[in-house]
Amino acid sequence: MLNLGNKVIYQIYPKSFYDSNNDGIGDLRGIINKIDYISKLNVDMIWFNPFFVSPQNDNGYDIADYYNIDPKFGTMADFEDLVVALKKINVGVMLDMVLNHCSTEHEWFQKALAGNQKYQKYFYLRPAKKDGSLPTNWQSKFGGPAWEKFGKTDLYYLHLYDKTQADLDWHNPDVRKEAASVVNFWRSKGVQGFRFDVINVTGKNEQLVDSEDPIQEKSLYTDTPVVHEYLKELNQSSFGKDPESITVGEMSSTSISNCIEYSHPEQNELSMVFTFHHLKVDYQNGEKWSKTPFDFKKLKHLFIEWQTQMDHGGGWNALFWNNHDQPWALNRFGDPVHYRVKSAEMLATAIHLMRGTPYIYMGEEIGMTDPNYQSIHDYVDIESLNAYRKLLAKGLSSEDAFELIQTKSRDNSRVPMHWDNSLNAGFSQNKPWLRPTGQDVINVKDELEHGEIFNYYQKLISMRKTEKLISAGHFKSLFENDPQVFAYERYLKNNGQENQDQILVLTNFYGKKTTVDLPRAYQDKAVKTLISNYNLDATKLAKKIELRPYEALAVKFK
Ligand code: NOJ
Repeated sequence: MLNLGNKVIYQIYPKSFYDSNNDGIGDLRGIINKIDYISKLNVDMIWFNPFFVSPQNDNGYDIADYYNIDPKFGTMADFEDLVVALKKINVGVMLDMVLNHCSTEHEWFQKALAGNQKYQKYFYLRPAKKDGSLPTNWQSKFGGPAWEKFGKTDLYYLHLYDKTQADLDWHNPDVRKEAASVVNFWRSKGVQGFRFDVINVTGKNEQLVDSEDPIQEKSLYTDTPVVHEYLKELNQSSFGKDPESITVGEMSSTSISNCIEYSHPEQNELSMVFTFHHLKVDYQNGEKWSKTPFDFKKLKHLFIEWQTQMDHGGGWNALFWNNHDQPWALNRFGDPVHYRVKSAEMLATAIHLMRGTPYIYMGEEIGMTDPNYQSIHDYVDIESLNAYRKLLAKGLSSEDAFELIQTKSRDNSRVPMHWDNSLNAGFSQNKPWLRPTGQDVINVKDELEHGEIFNYYQKLISMRKTEKLISAGHFKSLFENDPQVFAYERYLKNNGQENQDQILVLTNFYGKKTTVDLPRAYQDKAVKTLISNYNLDATKLAKKIELRPYEALAVKFK
């Protein structure tokens, strides 16, 4: 069976990585130009956000043609060259399969609009209620109702996201065949990795009915039992034919028991899952557009719960802090002003040494932070702009609404990669589609010359490849009630005895020092320091360990 535990995946947002033709938009050739940089990290696979033909209303998550490259990003020949170039450095390709919905510009939707019955069955088309109101009271995740008028007919179509992203009806076997054929097409191009966008909302209840409240609403279309059937079928008819394939499902508002089923090898669904509970610990009352310090206890509790239960159930987690939908973790859970380097390394340690497959989002390895935008006109993300309008309509002042956008916008992490300290951050000779800021302080060139975060990531990646305790060990939490330390043990059972081989990981999540009292079992034992962001080289652990601001330490018991 494929070993998922010793792999590390790097995520590239093509629009923002490197612009080779100077039109202000990153492209596939740009990625090829930066192969040397990528190879330094020694990752196993790259997940690329969508670069298929798309009107880009949701930056490529609104696909109009699944089989072609959007000319903004290059050509099929560029893609083929990219696969070859990556193969040379032993890096696989993971593509983003956005199959819950397609763009309303897609041929399927256009044919449906023109009256073609076959294609009308690809979508959720429903009449208004008797009183003339929308088919259900569901809300789109980007704000506003989830229904839009279907051309000149009396029908409405469902869109859980933007109105230009029409939900596909997976109950229809033809839709599922289309999904498999898209995956198989890219497999034939040498692709072995697939990330499935919001895949757990493909099984809407057969009868679409009004919801009682927003939480109950999600249960009407999320994690329904039929999703497991769809995934088993997709697995069998596409990527499951390749024993080396790696798949990850993006699971919105999911549960541990479902995730065990999605990712358990014997279920033949997916290799692993992305879940988001740990990234909502800075939401006030579950509301994303709010500003509040993160709840450390909750964060710890969630990590412990997911790590332990996924381990017991035989499921497998994708481990990550950042992606293209999240503001930088460094701004949320670290201190980008006083301890940028130490807190970046501490966060990396905490996530990389857990059980699962780590993902690194481009720029994380140099400690990038949220841009310093001062105007709403700097933002382009559809979700952020909708949210801004909604916040103003709710009565917030423009300053308060703007502050929330600054804190939570998805554009925070979509800013072009900082390659150097020049005006366009070395990303393009032309004005970038999203403005970089702060490249004078944080950029690849300086980081490689005299920084330490990149080296630290390199070390974490190589540790996962050489240390079985990291790639295959079980997880046990420590100091559960400590208000500022997240600590755990990774262990492997030896000759039926627990805890014989073990690693201890200690991370201080705050800018003030603290002390932990080590349990007797750890005291005075000989250890080898695996990694320390303060260059500590401990060979023995005392009774008490002092952790400096954002200190991270991992030791292996000899
Ligand atoms: C999740 C993607 O990561 C996000 O960027 C996108 O807007 C939604 N799915 C809809 O496709």
